[in-house]
Amino acid sequence: MPVAATKFLPFHRAQIGEDEIDAVVEVLRSGWLTTGPRVREFEAAFAHYTGASHAVAVNSCTAALHLSLAAIGLSEGDEVILPTMTFAASGEVVLYFKARPVFVDCEDGSFHIDPERIEQAITSRTRAILPVHYAGSPADMDRILEIASKHGLKVIEDAAHSLPARYKRRMVGTFGDITCFSFYATKTLTTGEGGMATTENPDFANRMRILSLHGISRDAWKRYTAEGSWRYEILEAGYKYNLTDLQAAIGLAQLANCDAMCAKRAALSERYTRALAPLDGFETPRPARYDCDHAWHLYVVQVNPAALRIDRDRVIEELKQRGIGTSVHFIPLHLHALYRKGSGYRAGQFPVAEKCFARAISLPIYPAMNEEDADRVTEALYDIAREFRR
Ligand SMILES: Cc1ncc(COP(=O)(O)O)c(C=O)c1O
Repeated sequence: MPVAATKFLPFHRAQIGEDEIDAVVEVLRSGWLTTGPRVREFEAAFAHYTGASHAVAVNSCTAALHLSLAAIGLSEGDEVILPTMTFAASGEVVLYFKARPVFVDCEDGSFHIDPERIEQAITSRTRAILPVHYAGSPADMDRILEIASKHGLKVIEDAAHSLPARYKRRMVGTFGDITCFSFYATKTLTTGEGGMATTENPDFANRMRILSLHGISRDAWKRYTAEGSWRYEILEAGYKYNLTDLQAAIGLAQLANCDAMCAKRAALSERYTRALAPLDGFETPRPARYDCDHAWHLYVVQVNPAALRIDRDRVIEELKQRGIGTSVHFIPLHLHALYRKGSGYRAGQFPVAEKCFARAISLPIYPAMNEEDADRVTEALYDIAREFRR
């Protein structure tokens, strides 16, 4: 039985400093708590940072994905192609429209949607491809955009993990029709809860903005300001998806620190990879086949069953006993009851995703960690590999 470590290293702890705290206090003192000038400032700064023409702030990535599909006019009976290896949000937003999520298996090394299989999944009802930049590494956008353009499909990117990631030297956020980011508590930039949709298309941006606040005509939030008017018009049934100034203030402070936080995660990932390379019990993330910069939201190792007598679940338990918190990304969507019962998906249908899921462990990787924390993780993995070697 391993000796329990003195202090538990959680899977994640947000990096919140005095800048974020001061920014929130300033908003509290301003008396303007909900959507207002800070949100507009955050949108402008985010657009500038990613190089996007438009950025629409919302209260989650799920909301951004939902509004993206609304903006492209997704309708009942349409189909959207997405990887089964993703989070609940990417699939459920398709169901909101009574449209069909069409799952595709992932690539073995990258966990990304397999571009080879996208074309096989296209039918006359397909409207969009929704790739996920898994763990913070960009999917192969050239291939995906080429397929989309050949078949006249829209591309909505789930970039919940991938700020700041680059594909062929260009920031993720300007490739597909719309790109959706998450600012959930564990993400690379957090506002507690929050999200952003970026696009080059002003019509998409305008539609998402209107839908994000009750379908009310432009700048609904301004109706309580000196230059605003109490009068407004509801154009269509919208949603209550707006981000608040309190959240945007945190986002602005985080954005200013985004490159530095990413550099810390990249350094931790290098440290992990260097330390774990000689260990055959765990496979480290494979480098992409193409030129890209990883955002390192997640560092996912795969348990090697040829080298270890125990499975992934037991390794997680052993890590926990050694004081290390971990997670698993993801349980493929087709294995969940919703899609087995509702859409007829079944276990065994996407063998690569199922194999990746069975072996994957996400290790702690965040800027609030130091090198000793990372070394504790690798030492625990070495210890487990020694104890449970085949
Ligand atoms: C791949 C992916 N897409 C979408 C989301 C949803 O993000 P949010 O919680 O901001 O709605 C998540 C959240 O973890 C995610 O991992």
